[in-house]
Amino acid sequence: FSDGPLKGKHIIVTSGPTHEPIDPVRYIANRSSGAQGTAIARSLAGLGADVTFVTGPAEVAPPAGVKVVKVQTADQMLAAVQAAGAADAAVFAAAVADWRVANAADQKIKKTGDALPTLTFAENPDILATVSQMKTGRPVLVVGFAAETDDVIAHATAKRQRKGCDWIVANDVSPETGIMGGSENAVTIITDTGADSWPRMSKDAVAQALARRIAEAIT
Ligand code: C5P
Repeated sequence: FSDGPLKGKHIIVTSGPTHEPIDPVRYIANRSSGAQGTAIARSLAGLGADVTFVTGPAEVAPPAGVKVVKVQTADQMLAAVQAAGAADAAVFAAAVADWRVANAADQKIKKTGDALPTLTFAENPDILATVSQMKTGRPVLVVGFAAETDDVIAHATAKRQRKGCDWIVANDVSPETGIMGGSENAVTIITDTGADSWPRMSKDAVAQALARRIAEAIT
């Protein structure tokens, strides 16, 4: 395990959704199984990387051979990424909730029979943008994801600029693709030199190809 091309490289991977509490028993979240992030962490570890895997409450179990840090919220995920220490690369595959509930209740909100509860929201930190724009100690390679439903390459290219990351792995998550929650993915890798579309393949195969490409970029 520890003898591949990524031996001695520290790589942070975020994965899964975040859960933002409404009260102690309720939350808001994005849909995310954690399958692609988990596969990427496994592939990177398979190439010898020292992987810190920061995961929200995902459906799939974390891979073996990585350092697992379990979190619930976006704030906790950012703190865990910052606590992970200097990294050679970072891959942000998590489906982070864009907002948290600003008026989350300490006690379970009761059905009173008349007034409905009103939620107010606060914006969550953008972990990918925060790390991409670090002035010192930025990982050499920062990889983000873009799940889009239309105009995938145009939106993902704009996202790469806006966030300041090096690569964006873009995919089409329109319901008719069956990609969300499924075992296959069809991705386009957007870098400073252009867009590279890969054929549809298993999420494991995407992870292995991406891990090899990361190894070429940082070694
Ligand atoms: O803006 P959008 O959510 O589409 O960007 C997706 C990319 O940004 C993913 O790589 C995701 O992990 C990352 N992200 C993040 N923190 C957020 C929102 C998104 O790291 N608060």
